[in-house]
Amino acid sequence: MTKPKLRIGVLISGRGTNLQSLIDACTQPDFPAEIACVVSNKPDAHGLARAESSGIEAVSIPHKNYESREAFEKDLTAALTERDVDLVCNAGFMRLLTNSFVAHWFNQQINIHPSLLPAFKGLHVHERVLEAGARISGCTLHFVRAEMDAGPIIAQAAVPVLPDDNADSLAARVLTAEHRLYPMVVKGIADGTITIDGDTVSIAAGAEEHAPLLLCPNL
Ligand code: GAR
Repeated sequence: MTKPKLRIGVLISGRGTNLQSLIDACTQPDFPAEIACVVSNKPDAHGLARAESSGIEAVSIPHKNYESREAFEKDLTAALTERDVDLVCNAGFMRLLTNSFVAHWFNQQINIHPSLLPAFKGLHVHERVLEAGARISGCTLHFVRAEMDAGPIIAQAAVPVLPDDNADSLAARVLTAEHRLYPMVVKGIADGTITIDGDTVSIAAGAEEHAPLLLCPNL
């Protein structure tokens, strides 16, 4: 009997290009995960339309309709639980989460951030990378903890910062790396080559030959 696919719930707030990379990966018959639903806290997020046009359930839970973070997150967890989600994948989900939501999905929630964490957490990452004069930037996939953009690192991709870069050109280069890395990580978690015990992430021996968890720039 074939192993059931890992059911992922993708949380978004916007355009959803990382979501699209996951949708595309999940359409491969041998990909070990499937998207159970896409949830947005912004009703006008373009990612919702991406989900719908791929036949994936798109759920809008506008945080503005709630009096408290807790009430919003209660419905968020209900939406994910009702659809038997195994792994929550934050993909441009720009809402801070409470300790209790993070604890509920402990080691079952991952996030992508467009910097080489722990550097440059938060917003306006690419502007700050350029201001700092960094020569390398990139993106990070990590398990979610209560602090913003923090938690055990799973994989990173590095890209060069070029002399004539502006925030948009750097963001585009990093985004290309994000689209490669996110499906690799979901695949690894789904097929069991990536595991976490407490705060320690392990990669099965030999797994990186097939899907390197550090993608490097061609310098
Ligand atoms: C991505 O660059 C992602 O890394 C970032 O938001 C963008 C979403 O783009 N996430 C964060 O900054 C989280 N702190 P997308 O909607 O096209 O996937």
